[in-house]
Amino acid sequence: MTSTTNGAGKANGRAGSPVAVTLGKKPSAGSFAGGGGGGVAPGAGKTACIRTFGCQMNVHDSDRMRRMIRDAGYAEVERYEDADVVVLNTCYVRENAVDRVRGHLGELSRLKKEGRVKKVALTGCVGAAKESSELRNTYGIDLVLGTHNTYELAEFVGLPGMEETYTPDLPGTEGDHQAFVTIMTGCNYQCSYCIVPTVRGRMSCRPMESVVDEVRRLVGSGTRYVTLLGQTVDAWREKEGARRFCDLLARVADEAPRVWFTTSHPSNMEDRTLKLIGEKETIVGRLHLPVQSGSDRMLRAMHRGYKSDRYRRKIEVFREAVPDGTLSTDIIVGHPGETEADHEETLRLVEDCAFDSAYVFKFSPRKGTEGARLASEVAVPDDIAQKRFLEVLRAVEGSAFRRNRAKIGGVEEIYVRHGRTGDGRAIGETWSGHAVHVPTGARPGEYVTARIEGAGPHVLYAGEPVS
Ligand code: SAH
Ligand code: SF4
Ligand code: F3S
Repeated sequence: MTSTTNGAGKANGRAGSPVAVTLGKKPSAGSFAGGGGGGVAPGAGKTACIRTFGCQMNVHDSDRMRRMIRDAGYAEVERYEDADVVVLNTCYVRENAVDRVRGHLGELSRLKKEGRVKKVALTGCVGAAKESSELRNTYGIDLVLGTHNTYELAEFVGLPGMEETYTPDLPGTEGDHQAFVTIMTGCNYQCSYCIVPTVRGRMSCRPMESVVDEVRRLVGSGTRYVTLLGQTVDAWREKEGARRFCDLLARVADEAPRVWFTTSHPSNMEDRTLKLIGEKETIVGRLHLPVQSGSDRMLRAMHRGYKSDRYRRKIEVFREAVPDGTLSTDIIVGHPGETEADHEETLRLVEDCAFDSAYVFKFSPRKGTEGARLASEVAVPDDIAQKRFLEVLRAVEGSAFRRNRAKIGGVEEIYVRHGRTGDGRAIGETWSGHAVHVPTGARPGEYVTARIEGAGPHVLYAGEPVS
């Protein structure tokens, strides 16, 4: 049973892992580490620590900031107490995310008083929210940045100021085995419960050629796995032109040896994209398609723009196009007004779709959203939300375990994502998108072939590789 204390449960979740990404524009004058510009780097002899909370967009933004910090000559450290400068790149999506940030800020202001940490920067989605000014005063934060002015961190770490540089066109680091490529930022939806459009702004899509150029550069330098990123990645479209996400995905799949994308929205998901996943050998057969609820009444209240039947149809198309593929989703329980009958509908949808994994969340009221206003009138009591949360989690784990067990006995080609850990096993991914533990010394980015010998609800276990 997967359950966490912060009200979010991840049944069979597979998170992406950080990759380093190069800064888009070089500092306007001078050049420090790696630039061969001479002179002493402003961060020489100093240390910095970056902590990342939230989704892959934040992981990607942290990589850009990491690059600035390295360019300034700082050495990166893991622990706050070893750092001169600390950057907290934060998430605002649920209240418990903010509570966590407050905990870290409390610890950092103590370390500052003790003279260990010198400066603290708060960046990301909390930085973009109004609440950040209260946090700045309470915890004596030195710099607060939102999601659109991350480039200002450059001056903070002693690099020459940059002009506006935060665009999704920033190229990725070369030479890494896997890389994120942002194809769109922001979101044009207004889901009742969601703060993301407020802190990330409206949708902005990057031109196709710019995406393809970056992918080509990455692949040329050794990247073997490209993940296309966006809050509603399948809403990507050409500003002037008819091309849609499916066309971009097809182009990228011709350029890169292994491709995945996240997060999709059911209203934007075209059948031809689902079919393409099955057709193209380079696309991982894994679909993350958040449904949020199985009740049409709740989907309407959430302003999701689709009914549960449309979602079911999409899943049918996916299962037919990619029979051994993996399907994951996000589900919110306890949205204001949710009745027991609505909850039953969600359980029925979970049963019908037989998810391979799901992120399950208890509704969290976010100030300024319609959901928060509704919560003052028709909130679902916490004990009921908790009960529903566990029921959905259990249902997902049941189907995930069943589906995982069906993989036992098969021989799979496995992409190694993380090299061998203490127990001698590496963590990899099959072409169907299953996470696998495999006893191998192969390095990240390499493939091994092995038989699946065991399965849990969250992961498969392979035997010694046959090649
Ligand atoms: N852009 C993506 C995901 C955005 S946030 C999408 O549209 O699918 C990731 C997930 O957090 C959402 O899918 C939703 O399930 C959950 N979430 C967002 N706001 C929430 C809130 N106020 N309370 C609980 N869960 C929330
Ligand atoms: Fe939030 Fe909805 Fe946009 Fe996703 S689609 S980021 S849940 S508003
Ligand atoms: Fe959180 Fe911001 Fe992502 S609010 S989920 S880090 S876009």
